Amino acid sequence: MEKKRIGVLTGGGDCAGLNPAIKWVVKTAMDDRLQKVRKIQYEVLGIRDGWKGLVFPDGDESDPAPRICTLAEEIVRTWDRYGGTMLGTSRTNPYDPKNNRSKIVLENLERYHLDYLVAIGGEDTLGVAHKLYLEGVKVVGIPKTIDKDLSGTDYTLGFETAVNVITEEIDRLRTTAGSHRRIFIVETMGRHAGWLALEGGESSGAYIILIPEYNFEIHRVNELLLEGREKGARYEIIVVAEGAQPAGYTEIVKEEGVDSFGHKILGGIGEFLAKWISQLTKIETRSITLSHLQRGGVPCAYDRRMGRYFGIAAVDMIVKEDFGKMVSYRNGWITAVPLREAVGKLNLVDVQTQYDTERYNGRRTILGG
Ligand code: F6P
Repeated sequence: MEKKRIGVLTGGGDCAGLNPAIKWVVKTAMDDRLQKVRKIQYEVLGIRDGWKGLVFPDGDESDPAPRICTLAEEIVRTWDRYGGTMLGTSRTNPYDPKNNRSKIVLENLERYHLDYLVAIGGEDTLGVAHKLYLEGVKVVGIPKTIDKDLSGTDYTLGFETAVNVITEEIDRLRTTAGSHRRIFIVETMGRHAGWLALEGGESSGAYIILIPEYNFEIHRVNELLLEGREKGARYEIIVVAEGAQPAGYTEIVKEEGVDSFGHKILGGIGEFLAKWISQLTKIETRSITLSHLQRGGVPCAYDRRMGRYFGIAAVDMIVKEDFGKMVSYRNGWITAVPLREAVGKLNLVDVQTQYDTERYNGRRTILGG
């Protein structure tokens, strides 16, 4: 029987749902029954630490252990229950213009006889996958990012677990906020896209939701808060995405500089707003940044299922020799879209139809009544 090798890696920020996807890539590729039908025997190698695993496959000073390992059904059997990624991840960019190591990646793909590659990631990781595809690598992508900002798909792994975390944490904040009559600001992740803040805020019934797609006015936020109090509210929850900006300001950054993909390190809008609001409304205001809690923990049921379907579909694409594409969930169906489409532009909240620019919240009409 013909033998072929599949390499699988996870890149960029981790999230819940990666391990179920890895498990189902392995199980689908190695399924005895399917191997007989396909007449190809696949072997799956795990590549540790994202693209770093293909730049330094033998290890480096940060970790001297080899980064290429054999995966088997017995190894991945329980992985779908765990958060994070058992393969590790990194924000290594082999096409970093300041240090282009893409040739090394191509050489290592040959050296390890990797016939196919499954890259699980967001815009950065899949952007690299697309460039490698253009250089002749037989690659397929699986979408993941808690930001849900990849185009070409209605779902990216990790999003629903992160929304569950936001909802659960806000449920906790409500009781203490109410006891003390406080305003609580909850800062979520979401660099460019407000999906996490919007859908997390909608799930938890937040009073105000602020997203990067719509620059808000601080005085309007205060007006809404005072209106709420006049109507008898004991407390208010504001959900703000890390990339949201008050009109006239730029994004608030946690640290100066950019990562190897050119992204700013955001953070601090919650604290910034809390100061303004307490000063202007004279109501005690606290802020909390959910930060990496949103990326941690076990995958929710939905991410386990979607990870499973995406993993299976990625192998189906390899079997069909349908490369340069990403698995996609579109209108209720699992399908495939060209990587070019997925990484070409970001999937942002449509302010006109999905956001209430007067009350800074989710829409109040859905069918257009
Ligand atoms: O890209 C996903 C994301 O979670 C963003 O929402 C956030 O800005 C960023 O990753 C944080 O990255 P890091 O884990 O490198 O701090």
